[in-house]
Amino acid sequence: MTDHAPSWRLEQADCLAALTAIPSAVASLVYLDPPFNTGVRRQGRSGLAFADRFDDIGAWRAFMEPRLRAAHRVLAEDGSLLLHVDWRTSHHARFMLDEIFGADNFVNHLVWSYGLGGSGPRSFARKHDDILLYGRSDAYWFEAPRVPARSARLRGRTKKATDVLDIAALNNMAIERTGWPTQKPLALLDVLVRACCRPNGLVVDPTCGSGTTLVAAVRSGRRALGIDISAEAIAIARGRLEGAAQRVTHPTAAQPRVRRQTAAGQQGLARSA
Ligand SMILES: C[S@@+](CC[C@H](N)C(=O)[O-])C[C@H]1O[C@@H](n2cnc3c(N)ncnc32)[C@H](O)[C@@H]1O
Repeated sequence: MTDHAPSWRLEQADCLAALTAIPSAVASLVYLDPPFNTGVRRQGRSGLAFADRFDDIGAWRAFMEPRLRAAHRVLAEDGSLLLHVDWRTSHHARFMLDEIFGADNFVNHLVWSYGLGGSGPRSFARKHDDILLYGRSDAYWFEAPRVPARSARLRGRTKKATDVLDIAALNNMAIERTGWPTQKPLALLDVLVRACCRPNGLVVDPTCGSGTTLVAAVRSGRRALGIDISAEAIAIARGRLEGAAQRVTHPTAAQPRVRRQTAAGQQGLARSA
């Protein structure tokens, strides 16, 4: 990748190993959308995609902690982390991140309000996810995003986004739907990437699934590194990125490619990413 070429790479690997092989302080943004500990076996179009199951919350924390530490290490001084979780784990995640990043580096607890979903007779309907934003230091890069204004007075104009992002979840008919379960909408990642990653910075998604974050990064002139343990997820992400790359015309764009995990290869990848 050159300084001016929006580009991307994919790794099929456990993200702990892949992150550990990356040099320190190279990433502008890590967006991490891990298994939520729902207890559900997530089905893709061709069967089981991933089992979102841990024995208990202690097992989820034990899975997350070394990966959050590894994410922290790869962030540049002006970088930041977005951790996407929900009501099951957000309180645990907040404690872990306060410890790893320092409570002073907490920036926002974003609420992604998505509308879809069921409701139970004995609780308020759960219609949001939690996204925790931490700066690597107080020099973290940030550009306040603008979103369409909803009020009649401001109709057709934009306003500064608040910490409640009102963006529809993907319905079954959505054109961007890939079939990968738990796929997030591009509209959400567009807002997050543009707000939290400087132009031409490197966005790392350690559990990239269908590659939503990477597409948002590439189409806004950032560089992207996606990691996922599933070969099927990586294949889906590659297909989406190849489509996105065709739409981003850039004379010096490097050839994207998928690589399997090797320690040496990952170091080379991260240096050039
Ligand atoms: C919530 S999904 C991510 C969805 C993604 N944001 C999207 O828009 O498609 C979580 C992903 O974590 C991946 N995963 C689970 N364990 C992993 C691990 N140890 N290393 C890397 N990826 C992992 C799963 O394969 C799955 O794709």
